[in-house]
Amino acid sequence: MLAGEYGEVVERNFRLLVRLGEIYGADRMIPVGSVQVAGVSYKSIGDPGLEFLEDLASKGAKVKVPTTLNPTGMDLLDWKDLGFPEDFAEKQLQIMDAFEKMGIMMTATCTPYLVGNLPRFREHIAWSESSAVSFANSVIGARTNREGGPSALAAALCGVTPNYGLHLDEKRKPNFLVKVSTELKDNADFGALGYHVGKIVKDGIPYFKGIKNADTDQLKALGAAMAASGAVGLYHVEGITPEAGLFGTDGLEIIEVGERETHEAYKTLNTGEDPDIIILGCPHASLKEIATLARKLEGKRLRKPLWICTSRVTKEAATRMGFTELIEKAGGKVVADTCTVVSPIERMGYKTTAVNSGKAANYLPGFCKQQVVFKSIDDLLEGNAV
Ligand code: F3S
Repeated sequence: MLAGEYGEVVERNFRLLVRLGEIYGADRMIPVGSVQVAGVSYKSIGDPGLEFLEDLASKGAKVKVPTTLNPTGMDLLDWKDLGFPEDFAEKQLQIMDAFEKMGIMMTATCTPYLVGNLPRFREHIAWSESSAVSFANSVIGARTNREGGPSALAAALCGVTPNYGLHLDEKRKPNFLVKVSTELKDNADFGALGYHVGKIVKDGIPYFKGIKNADTDQLKALGAAMAASGAVGLYHVEGITPEAGLFGTDGLEIIEVGERETHEAYKTLNTGEDPDIIILGCPHASLKEIATLARKLEGKRLRKPLWICTSRVTKEAATRMGFTELIEKAGGKVVADTCTVVSPIERMGYKTTAVNSGKAANYLPGFCKQQVVFKSIDDLLEGNAV
């Protein structure tokens, strides 16, 4: 590949992977089972990103392994009805064209593991959506570094990634012990915990003790929040995640988290009061989360617009099950392909957004110039649905 035998595109991208490997001391390249590419929204990559992708596609770039895409900047089918700007949509569709030409699956979701890109335990992958990286490493036990958009794309075009960091056994050991002594009731509580811990451990590996139960949606909320407030790519939860039992916790730096700490996280993240819109589904909602919301909204009427963001595949299933209709009857929308942070909501007249996600609450002020209301779904619906 480096000798140019597979063409200019592969050579250029392989060179990038070699350079990365040299910087991080990788001993070799390893094949990857799949790639998740981030940097898809026109809002994030702009014209330079679009030109870069079109250039690659025009030179015949083709992915060598199953490759899925992160959320785009808009619902690819309903963007007009939802009020997305026309000029934005035009550019976004060009970006999608370029990705499609490269053979990438048009999943447009940050939960690829819910729509067919499900790695196995210990499988090497190269993913670049931070919440998905965290989920794959921690909940599934697959192995990926926190790739950037270009390095993930390079891995997809070459089928390999340099062997360093979280691909190695010895780099998956925890270095913080987080003792949780507060009850975690819903996704928002897990998001608040993740926000607090991510800020302290930064790119470290926390080992949680005291979390009695957590479903996959709560684990994705926890990982997403830590990946955003810090740069956590892997965490362990005693008795719950697959690699937790491999490690001892003696000598680890201890972080105590009680009600006071999570309360403080809620206080910091709540910067607004009266939301213009409620946006759920960060990370993208599972079918179970959509079903739960639909049941909560049954027979109710929302006072504010509400979106629940998810993948197209999950929306199709939700529609088939009648959940989309229930949500729409209450005045909400199931929005596919995009999310609160990568869509241009600040251009659509929204100034204060309510969320139940620690990651979204953390990112919305910077990325979308929003004031934030951060609460559990039940608390959000209490004031905003009758
Ligand atoms: Fe996914 Fe967007 Fe949140 S990419 S993790 S829904 S910020």
